[in-house]
Formats: sequence, C-alpha cells, structure tokens
Amino acid sequence: MAEEVFVSPRKRGRIAVLVSGRGSNFLKIHDAVREGRIDAEIAFVFSNREDAAGLAAARERGLETMFLNPRLYADKEEYDREILREIRKRGIDLVCLAGYMKVLTPAFCRELSHRVMNIHPALLPAFPGLHVQQRAIDWGVRYSGCTVHFVAPEVDMGPIILQAAVPVLPDDTEETLAARILIEEHKIYPEAVRLYFEGRLEVRGRRVRILN
Ligand code: GRF
Repeated sequence: MAEEVFVSPRKRGRIAVLVSGRGSNFLKIHDAVREGRIDAEIAFVFSNREDAAGLAAARERGLETMFLNPRLYADKEEYDREILREIRKRGIDLVCLAGYMKVLTPAFCRELSHRVMNIHPALLPAFPGLHVQQRAIDWGVRYSGCTVHFVAPEVDMGPIILQAAVPVLPDDTEETLAARILIEEHKIYPEAVRLYFEGRLEVRGRRVRILN
C-alpha cells in the first residue's frame, strides 16, 4: 500500500488552543500571531477547567473563550464530540494543545489527524506521561528537553515536528529543570505553528520533513 503523505496547508489559518492551566505556551503562540510571525488567528481558547489561568489571560487579550464542564457529559466520548462540534463550527484548521491535561479520545484524534499539535516537556519517546522532569532527573539522563508533535491516539506518540534539548544539571530540581525546558518550549511551539501555516510540514508515516 502506498504511504500516505500529508502536507500542511499554506494559508492564513484558524487556530483553537486548548489549555488546562497557566497557559504560557498559549501566550507565546498568541504573541507570535500578534507580531505577524504566524499567519493565523486564534479563533478561540478552550478549557476543561473554569479556573484555568490561561482562560483568564485569553479573555484579557480579547479572545473568545469557552469552558465546558466535563462532569456534565456522560463520558469522555460525548465530551470530545461536543468540543469537536465547536471546532467545526468555527472552521478551525489547527488545534494546539497547550498544557491541556485531558487525554483526547481516539475518535477525536482520528477525526483531526495532522490537525492537532501538542507540546511535551521531554525528548519523546523518552518520558511520555506525567511528572516527566522529575523522572528525567531520577533516571540520570544528561539531557532532556521538549517535543512538539502531532497528536495520535497513542498518548505522546504522534509524529515529531520539532525538539530542543537542554542539559540536566547535577543540582537540578524538578522546578529548575522545568524552567530551563520551558524557555525552549516557548521557542519551538510558535515555530512549529509558523511552519505549519507556511505549508512546510510534510508527514510520511512517523516522519515529518520540514520543506524549504
Ligand atoms: C508545559 O510544560 C507543556 O510542555 C506541558 O504542560 C505545560 C504547560 O505549561 N504539556 P503552560 O500552561 O503552557 O504554561
């Protein structure tokens, strides 16, 4: 069977950002949009948590925000279907997960294949999941970092778009390592979104090539 090839669209894009917490990555993406480094607009910011600081920050910046309470839905399939409806309604081209702490259902991931990105604070496929900075320290790795990847049904395992490495220092705590990694996250996430709407991400199976 011929390998399926995806090439990201070159267009002025419409982005949805999903946050559960602080939202610093969302803010960096929005900064890049405002400064014209990303040819897109953020159509809305969504959260599963009413008290997410990222949602308040989006409101302050005049963006449309939306909170849906997961407890009001029968199961996560129904919850994700509702999010998908809101995404479709707004003609969204790309969904950016930015500290979104709910695992998306396989149906959601399949429906939006190559249209959902995530940032993870480790060099995948090492340390998927949670508490990854502490786990990197405990493992004794010399380098960790961050990964922007497309979202696939297997958590943290979709095709890798960009990575940045940072050293793990002998006296690092979870906090100091997380802070060093976050500086890199703030660079590579907006960069990946920029490349996406420049039509420069080509995906063949697991491999993403950056086109010139
Ligand atoms: C980041 O470390 C990101 O890699 C992880 O969750 C954290 C979110 O931080 N997925 P913020 O909400 O973007 O500040």
